[in-house]
Amino acid sequence: MSATVRVNLNERSYDVVIGTGLMGTAPDHIAPLLKRPRVWIVTEDRVAPLHLPRLEAALREGGITPAALILPAGEGTKSWAYLTQTVEWLLDERVERGDIVIALGGGVIGDLVGFAAAILRRGVRFVQMPSSLLAQVDSSVGGKTGINTRHGKNLVGAFHQPSLVLADIDLLDTLSPRDFLAGYGEVVKYGLLGDAAFFDRLEDHAPPWPQVMRRCGPRPCAARCR
Ligand SMILES: NC(=O)c1ccc[n+]([C@@H]2O[C@H](COP(=O)([O-])OP(=O)(O)OC[C@H]3O[C@@H](n4cnc5c(N)ncnc54)[C@H](O)[C@@H]3O)[C@@H](O)[C@H]2O)c1
Repeated sequence: MSATVRVNLNERSYDVVIGTGLMGTAPDHIAPLLKRPRVWIVTEDRVAPLHLPRLEAALREGGITPAALILPAGEGTKSWAYLTQTVEWLLDERVERGDIVIALGGGVIGDLVGFAAAILRRGVRFVQMPSSLLAQVDSSVGGKTGINTRHGKNLVGAFHQPSLVLADIDLLDTLSPRDFLAGYGEVVKYGLLGDAAFFDRLEDHAPPWPQVMRRCGPRPCAARCR
């Protein structure tokens, strides 16, 4: 089951596909974008063991050969060092201008890989497969990409729109309560910023807070969920 939202930006327009089971049907969405049946996936070491094998199997089943680079999870990966590693790997792999790079992960991977795609050969196309709630509702859409420097967050980057966003909500099942709530906070913000009906809907359908607090804990959250 899925829904598609078209982002209209003239020649840079793209689809955001939201739904369940999108890992399995990824080749149906990605194949029409390909000039040759190969893709390069960049992901990280928390998401990879949970979701990469399924994506690779689905791509192979669909006749697409994947190669993968697995980086460390965490904000520190949005850095010059991992940008260099990613770009050099893509060059080692002889990725051409017509090829597609896939960012499989949360906002960290989406921002880093989007920026690598923006500067590689002066711009290659990329597909966002956001795996965190925050990335699905926010960072994977809009084309803001970049890395942090010692001067601060997101100080170096580029606007580079994805060619496709595949937001498979099944991926959220493996998120820690802490990371789920981090994304949910962003969702609540959309309601608070000017959509009262949406905010009411969230209140009506909110998870049972005592249960969430038991899993997350008001203070020990960081200890239990990291
Ligand atoms: N480009 C934009 O418009 C934009 C907007 C908002 C935030 N951001 C950026 O996004 C980043 C934050 O995003 P984030 O919260 O997704 O961070 P993240 O990528 O670090 O993910 C958060 C944690 O969730 C884990 N994770 C992700 N998907 C998982 C899954 N399916 N199962 C289990 N664990 C999973 C990750 O390993 C990590 O530990 C920041 O760097 C921020 O600057 C960018």
